Amino acid sequence: MRNTFSNRIGFIAAAAGSAVGLGNIWKFPFEVGERGGAAFLLMYLVFCFVLCFPILVAEISIGRKSQRNPIGAFTVLGHKKWSLVGILSMVAAVLVLSFYNVVAGWSFGYFIEMLNGNFSAGNQFPEFIKNMVKVGGYAALFMAATAFIVAKGVSGGIERTNKILMPLLILIIVMLAGYALTLPGAREGLKFYLIPDFSRINLEVIYNALGHAFFSLSLGFGALITYGSYVNKQENIVTAAAVITLTDIGVAFLAGFMMFPLVFSQGLETNGGAGLVFMTLPGVFEQLGPVLGIVVGALFFLLLSFAALTSTVSLFEIPVAYMVDEFQVNRKKAVWIAGIAIFIIGIPSMIANGYSDFFSHFITYVGSEGSVDFMTFISDIASNTFLPLGGLLVSVFVAYVWKKENLLHEISNGNISFADTLIGRYIGFGIKYVCPLVLGVIFLLTVLERFLGIHLVG
Ligand code: TRP
Repeated sequence: MRNTFSNRIGFIAAAAGSAVGLGNIWKFPFEVGERGGAAFLLMYLVFCFVLCFPILVAEISIGRKSQRNPIGAFTVLGHKKWSLVGILSMVAAVLVLSFYNVVAGWSFGYFIEMLNGNFSAGNQFPEFIKNMVKVGGYAALFMAATAFIVAKGVSGGIERTNKILMPLLILIIVMLAGYALTLPGAREGLKFYLIPDFSRINLEVIYNALGHAFFSLSLGFGALITYGSYVNKQENIVTAAAVITLTDIGVAFLAGFMMFPLVFSQGLETNGGAGLVFMTLPGVFEQLGPVLGIVVGALFFLLLSFAALTSTVSLFEIPVAYMVDEFQVNRKKAVWIAGIAIFIIGIPSMIANGYSDFFSHFITYVGSEGSVDFMTFISDIASNTFLPLGGLLVSVFVAYVWKKENLLHEISNGNISFADTLIGRYIGFGIKYVCPLVLGVIFLLTVLERFLGIHLVG
């Protein structure tokens, strides 16, 4: 018998846990900060509802119908050649996990720094990420925790962990946001966050917002195909998808309510890039005084680590499910293989922040000045290029190979009159026309502009 989630709450907790991650708390605020505040926020919200929601429903349905990992799923519901899409998604998922795990390790490392009351950790960030003993050690620890949970199976490991960590995470973030809002600079922070400046919207904002929407909802790499394959036939996929989307958006939104007041209360800049939370926040916590500072600081990085853990678990499950389904490898053995392999693949990311010159200045994009490091490069190609491409391929697959009717039929298992509802109609229409068209156009423009330096718009 295939593993399953024990009930609807179990699945929703796991999928929401996958969605809510470093993307919401670490990446979202600095993306908003760098790309014009509310204008970015608005684009992100539009993409979540209009483009991502139908794809989210489609991924879960593909998984549940096929009862397989992404590679098996595309083969069972389509043809052998579609398994190539599954293979690409798995490779991409492994790459993302390899760097994601490193940042997750930093988060846990900063939890320890805060517990020790080391508020200078913010200024020491450049040294911290070069310190291979710490970075490697924390990354190994984080990978081991992920592997341990996945080894315990779907309901006993993944579901159980998420049912505990997700409520805790929401509690912590509500507390921190509530506290941040009482600080003096809160009003300025919120203005920046919530009042859109539409003149800031350009192609770059658009494709970053799109990439972020996909990344944040864990779409495009088959994570939800995999989780979907563990969902019972009676579950209502659409309701589950709605709860997952709203939780993800809600947590990102709250993260903004927490970050911007904190940052503005110290008169700091919002465009701190990838280092924003690590470099800026410890100083903010220091201002709170020794006791409160340690409590709030440690809570914050604990929150970040929990969010990361429920996401690394979902990425890790993809190659594990593949080995278990297709090669009948025992789950524990699959976990060992995946854990060691992904840790090794993560080494270039670990040394890309100053330790190795080569990986720290890995590549210079056509038409841009200055190089980017290996980790940024992987994150750029993965979330801004491969995720929307994965979404595009899922929508094309459903619309023209598996067929819209089969999708709607699969959904109606848990929701009989679904196809006639407004949402049902939109999902069909979105998957068949809106997603392929819009994602196709944005993908083309992105590749032209990003990698070939050809600007067609803006
Ligand atoms: N959604 C997670 C975040 O916001 C990251 C993530 C987990 C992910 N699983 C994924 C991204 C699968 C793409 C695909 O941090």
